[in-house]
Amino acid sequence: MNLKPKPGILDITPYVGGRAEAPDGAPAVKLSSNESALGPSPVAIAAYEEACRYLSFYPEGSARLLRDALGELHHLDPDRIVCGNGSDELLSLLSRIYASDGDEVVFTEHAFLVYRIAALASGAVPVAVPETDLRADVEKILSSVTPRTRLVFLANPNNPTGSCLSGAEVRRLHAGLPPSVLLVMDAAYAEYVQRRDYEAGDALVIQFDNVVMTRTFSKIYGLAGLRVGWAFCPASVADALNRVRGPFNVSVPAQRAAVAALRDREHVARSIAHNETWKRRLIESIRASGLRVDDSEGNFVLVHFPRGAHDAKAADAFLASRGFILRPVANYGLPHCMRLTIGSEDANRGVAAAIADFMRPAR
Ligand SMILES: Cc1ncc(COP(=O)(O)O)c(C=O)c1O
Repeated sequence: MNLKPKPGILDITPYVGGRAEAPDGAPAVKLSSNESALGPSPVAIAAYEEACRYLSFYPEGSARLLRDALGELHHLDPDRIVCGNGSDELLSLLSRIYASDGDEVVFTEHAFLVYRIAALASGAVPVAVPETDLRADVEKILSSVTPRTRLVFLANPNNPTGSCLSGAEVRRLHAGLPPSVLLVMDAAYAEYVQRRDYEAGDALVIQFDNVVMTRTFSKIYGLAGLRVGWAFCPASVADALNRVRGPFNVSVPAQRAAVAALRDREHVARSIAHNETWKRRLIESIRASGLRVDDSEGNFVLVHFPRGAHDAKAADAFLASRGFILRPVANYGLPHCMRLTIGSEDANRGVAAAIADFMRPAR
């Protein structure tokens, strides 16, 4: 075999999305991918359906209407917004643009898995920095930066831990980075965050020329299946992204549905309220079952299982047999945990009861 991928490619463990079915193939309630509990706005669905009239045409390549709508909503310069085929695409492109052979890409121990893949795919060395109590630690991140560091990825809030740094902590992190390092603030779950000291990253992007904020339509807007994300960038970063991205990377239905979704603020407010109510109830109920579950700023919670008969593996099998699919997170370095997405009211009641049943014999 003469064809050889460049170094790093075969070190990648392919990303595997959350399962949607029980092991026997039976339909199940999918609570494994942090998708929206309420789904997309009916207005977005109508725009998607309407888009079928335009399927023979290429999309407008820069997603101009979508960038304009995002700019208007978030008070940002649309020329500095780049849309992507999910924010995953943008995260990977940023690594490809700014890191190459032997450069270092820094992220934290239990961070979103795409960062490692993006680093390896660009030939760079992934550097996973230890966390403190399942939380990114600014001092540890800064002490892992070397002259070879090109990017720092920070998921804020982080998936799968749900932990979140304050704006002040993020600013401390930025202040300690050399200007030659790009800080990528992945704010996929920003809309769910309730703490008042949170900063998604747009203000930092405006203030500094080495910060990018990425966002997604896959979570609060319920459009994960369409694949739409966006980045707000310094002008030079937007220019570089626009050179390397696919010329038509966001499809016609995706652009149209996303624009419509942005307009339905009531649906967004309902989704946030649902998440808050049910996250609190689920946390209370799971704690009452005797398990540790961490506070979370996202639309998911991390549940810790004990060693032994009631471990995470047994829980996964039991819950799947009851029709609930959670996400095992051993590949995030958390073999004793499972991540649970906040679902519909029925799903939440059902999974809470199933977890209580699973734990009952142990208590
Ligand atoms: C922290 C984080 N960033 C980015 C993404 C990817 O989102 P997208 O669907 O926009 O590619 C996810 C998806 O789960 C995520 O958890």
